[in-house]
Amino acid sequence: MDYITRMKEKVKELKKKENVTILAIESSCDETSIAVVVNGRKVLSNVISSQIEIHTRFGGVVPEVASRNHIRAINNVLTEALEKANITLKDIDAIAVTYGAGLIGALLVGVNFAKALAYSLDIPLIPVNHIKGHLAANYITFEELEPPFVCLIISGGHTSLFEIKSYTEQTLIGQTLDDAVGEAFDKVARVVGLGYPGGPKVEKMAKEGTPNITLVKQNATKGTFNFSFSGIKTAVINYVNRLAQKGEEVNKADLCASFQTFVIKELTEKTLGAAKKYGYDKVVLAGGVSANQTLKAYITSEGEKQKIKVFAPPPVLCTDNAAMIASAGYYNLMCLEEVAPLSLSAKASITYLS
Ligand code: KG4
Ligand code: ZN
Repeated sequence: MDYITRMKEKVKELKKKENVTILAIESSCDETSIAVVVNGRKVLSNVISSQIEIHTRFGGVVPEVASRNHIRAINNVLTEALEKANITLKDIDAIAVTYGAGLIGALLVGVNFAKALAYSLDIPLIPVNHIKGHLAANYITFEELEPPFVCLIISGGHTSLFEIKSYTEQTLIGQTLDDAVGEAFDKVARVVGLGYPGGPKVEKMAKEGTPNITLVKQNATKGTFNFSFSGIKTAVINYVNRLAQKGEEVNKADLCASFQTFVIKELTEKTLGAAKKYGYDKVVLAGGVSANQTLKAYITSEGEKQKIKVFAPPPVLCTDNAAMIASAGYYNLMCLEEVAPLSLSAKASITYLS
């Protein structure tokens, strides 16, 4: 019997098992992470080895440097994840891995490591879309949360609104027509001189300022559920350049507050608007930018006014981690019986939430 046929049989057995333990691997960008999660919800361990310090000196993630550091870290991360979960490899029922989207070299480290583990342990290999992982961070955080709901995915590479109909079915409502919101935060941080990683630094700086600068007058995507952040990003760049030409100093705090307020209002208006239009009273935030507590506070209070409940994971589960991949992997395996062949490869981009 070949691997896939054997694994399809194993999945049938796993579906009858009371506790299914999944070990997941995430290496799509600058975090090497391995987690052990039971039944998609109970986290036994979630070890995250961040490369932030390494990339800070370059002002952003250097893909080749990221790949090399994943290779250096991954074995130790596995050992720690097993130790913290107090289990051995023999207790693992399946291996989940982020196969895309992300930096191709970085993804390949995780994918090949996962393939080797799945092959040697003779257990299913589950391919996970990174974005679906971000969504699943909410299943880990909120035990009672179940689809359907509206989900806003906001990360360094994505800004999309989805109608999440079940654990496996979703429809795209809207998306960014240009930059992802995290990308805009990172760019603004760089232009203002705050460095990498941009999002948390802009948020911190914004707390000390007043949103008193009008950066863009009209929002190009008004009346739709799509987003556009290149206009506001360019407006910030132009503002900084204009003041530099005049020899005037930029009030960084006010500029960050003005930028962030625009972005937060935009995300809130569209997300709650979509929930209302499609008849949902639950909204879920996912991805690195949902670690922004100013956004979370604003959308939660606006939601309350409209009787819409807002969910968002704690910051450590908003940014990249393997626990969310294990959770998404669990639903892929249990609902879709999805098992990858050992020829699985990494994908730099995946256009849809598949
Ligand atoms: O989900 P994530 O860790 O990686 C991707 O899949 O892209 O998201 C990273 C993005 C970065 O652009 C980072 O600046 C942004 O999330 N981010 C934030 C905050 N924390 C992280 N943006 C705004 N406010 C934050 N507190
Ligand atoms: Zn991510």
